[in-house]
Parts: sequence; structure tokens; C-alpha cells
Amino acid sequence: MEKEQIQALIRQAFAARKFAYTPYSHFQVGAALLTGDGKVYTGCNIENAGYTPTNCAERTALFKAVSEGERMFSAIAIVGSVQGTVNKLVTGPCGVCRQALYEFGGPDLTVIMAKTEEDYIVTTLGELLPYGFGPANLENE
Ligand code: THU
Repeated sequence: MEKEQIQALIRQAFAARKFAYTPYSHFQVGAALLTGDGKVYTGCNIENAGYTPTNCAERTALFKAVSEGERMFSAIAIVGSVQGTVNKLVTGPCGVCRQALYEFGGPDLTVIMAKTEEDYIVTTLGELLPYGFGPANLENE
């Protein structure tokens, strides 16, 4: 991916993060998911007083996209930090989100984990979830 495209996706992840609902952790995450044909779906984390129903930003973006007919994805940008700060570490997708993304993105999905528009790591879902379990594993032969 070109630098401009990466930075544009990071910007959209930051914009989505503004809507994060995080009264419990105050850790705000935004995600921007790029489809195979260039559309972007964004998401934020949405917490819950019951804690367990909390939804991560990545899955919010993924489920918005899939529920509107999207199945092919090429990249996702993720930004996370404690409200009003820049974190020392990048925010990688949690294990559940890696698995959820693997279903549609497979190992080739580009994953951009950003602290700022200038400070980011580009990797793939295959690197983050080696030997991931996906639809192909359910087929025989
Ligand atoms: N969170 C995300 O939205 N994405 C991640 O990949 C890591 C964690 C959220 C869940 C919870 O609302 C907060 O960050 C702290 O765990």
C-alpha cells in the first residue's frame, strides 16, 4: 500500500475513535476497514456495564461492512489509546478480532497499527494469526 493510502486509512480510524463509548476503561479504539473495491467502513469500541458485551472497534467495523454485503477486505487500520493521550504501544487487534477478521480477510489482510499518522506498523493478519483457522479448514481433501 502507498503511504498516502495508509495515512488516509489511519485518519479515518482516528475519526471513528471519537465515537468510542468507553466509560469503564477510558481506552478508546478506532478502526477503518478497506474493502476490496475501495470502500471504507469505520468502527469504534462500545463498552457495556455488563463488560462482556463490549465490542471492539475492529469488529464494529467488520460487522457494519458484512451486514451491508461486503465480503472482501484488503486492509484495516487500528488506533488506540487512553483518552486524550498517545500510547507508548500500538494497539494490535485482540485475539477475538483476529479470528473474526480471518474469516473474511484471510492471512493476506494488511493490518496497520498506528500511534499517529507518522508512527505506525504495517503487517498482515497471517503474521498476527499464524496457522489461523478459517473456512478452508472446514473442507476435506
Ligand atoms: N479494544 C478494542 O476495541 N480493540 C482491540 O483490539 C483491543 C481492545 C477495546 C475493548 C475495550 O473497550 C477497551 O479496548 C479496553 O480493552
